[in-house]
Amino acid sequence: MTEPTSPGPLDRWYEAAGVRGGVRRIFHAEAERGHVFFPEHLVPHLDHPEVRALAPERIRELTIRHLYQFLHSTTHLETRVVNGAAEPVANGRSGMDFPSALRMDAFKVYCDEGYHALYSLDLADQIARVTGIPVPKVDYGGFVTALEAAGRALLPGDPVLAGQLQAVVFETLITAVLNEVPQDPTVVSTVRDLMRDHAKDEGRHHRFFSAFFLELWARLNRSRRIAAGRALPAMIRAALEWDLAPVHGSLRLAGLGEEQARAVLADCYAGEAVTARIQAVSRATVRLCAQVGAFELPGVAEAFAAQGIDEPGER
Ligand SMILES: [Fe+2]
Ligand SMILES: [Fe+2]
Repeated sequence: MTEPTSPGPLDRWYEAAGVRGGVRRIFHAEAERGHVFFPEHLVPHLDHPEVRALAPERIRELTIRHLYQFLHSTTHLETRVVNGAAEPVANGRSGMDFPSALRMDAFKVYCDEGYHALYSLDLADQIARVTGIPVPKVDYGGFVTALEAAGRALLPGDPVLAGQLQAVVFETLITAVLNEVPQDPTVVSTVRDLMRDHAKDEGRHHRFFSAFFLELWARLNRSRRIAAGRALPAMIRAALEWDLAPVHGSLRLAGLGEEQARAVLADCYAGEAVTARIQAVSRATVRLCAQVGAFELPGVAEAFAAQGIDEPGER
């Protein structure tokens, strides 16, 4: 096992982590004047003719509900997917032996994600109270339930490994939203501040999980490596799939009929654009798979190709 030689991404956690020194972000009604709640180009359905034909007030509500979906699904992802994987590592019950420094790092991630979940829920709640636009009563964790089912199907009998890989995939995908929103002057400042806070922690998590993946891989025997390598591309795709049930509900609340809502989903959330996005966002994760030699294992390159994800050299 390699001993860490360079400074670890969470070495300065006590000084740098949002949960250690951050401020609570407070939303004020005046902050929203002339601003949007989410960058409009990152809300796929806003560009659809059926949606563009709606009154400006309905479009504003759709954008607010898109932010709610982002914030609420973040709480599920952080506490169920990432912390679901961090906890067994931290408590030494993953079936693999990790050094105590790495176990403490896993607890640092655990604290960060719990805090991210708290402030995401807090901001959605504040915005709902100030704007009077309620958070719809839908399941924002449907996405996580689907991921868990995919993990069980892809790695039957190895739920711990499935959970670890899903967390690595999530934490190493480039989160365009977290990086883009803080730079976007059209967006409400409280939303930008919160996403900036989150992006800072996630930059460290990205580095931690990249290093963790190498440690994890080193502890797998050949048959688990093959199973993992074949499961990873489907996990990448599953992690980037949209949860359409809340989008559908939001479109109906905006006044679209059932058929119109379904047509918007079909037009905006499928096809070429989805695969192009998956390629772009998964680049770092795929490079990591190449780094450990996953593509040389039987069936792995084929599994990536089947999901429409190219090997790094082919991009
Ligand atoms: Fe997070
Ligand atoms: Fe994270």
